[in-house]
Amino acid sequence: MHLAQAIKSVVKIPVITVGRVRTPELANRIVQEGKADLVSMGRALIADPHFPRKALEGDWKRLFLVSPATGAFRVSGKEEAFGVP
Ligand SMILES: Cc1cc2nc3c(=O)[nH]c(=O)nc-3n(C[C@H](O)[C@H](O)[C@H](O)COP(=O)(O)O)c2cc1C
Repeated sequence: MHLAQAIKSVVKIPVITVGRVRTPELANRIVQEGKADLVSMGRALIADPHFPRKALEGDWKRLFLVSPATGAFRVSGKEEAFGVP
């Protein structure tokens, strides 16, 4: 996202960032702080294809997340890993 911010400062077109964005809070913060115009997510959407709907509905408790360290999936709020992408 630091790269996106640098690119955004020298172009006049929308900039999309990607990489280890796993939570709606981080995605929102990136856009609100003007670091990028859009946030793309790869593994977070593989782990939970309903991520965007749950984020809109504020349903964090049931969100499936991806560990940035191991790539393992887990249910938010629980430690138990149940898969690796
Ligand atoms: C299973 C999988 C397949 C991917 N395939 C491509 C691809 O074909 N082309 C590409 O540019 N990036 C590909 N990527 C990289 C993603 O677009 C993204 O840059 C990367 O996963 C980092 O974002 P994330 O942390 O949100 O997963 C792939 C990632 C994964 C996990």
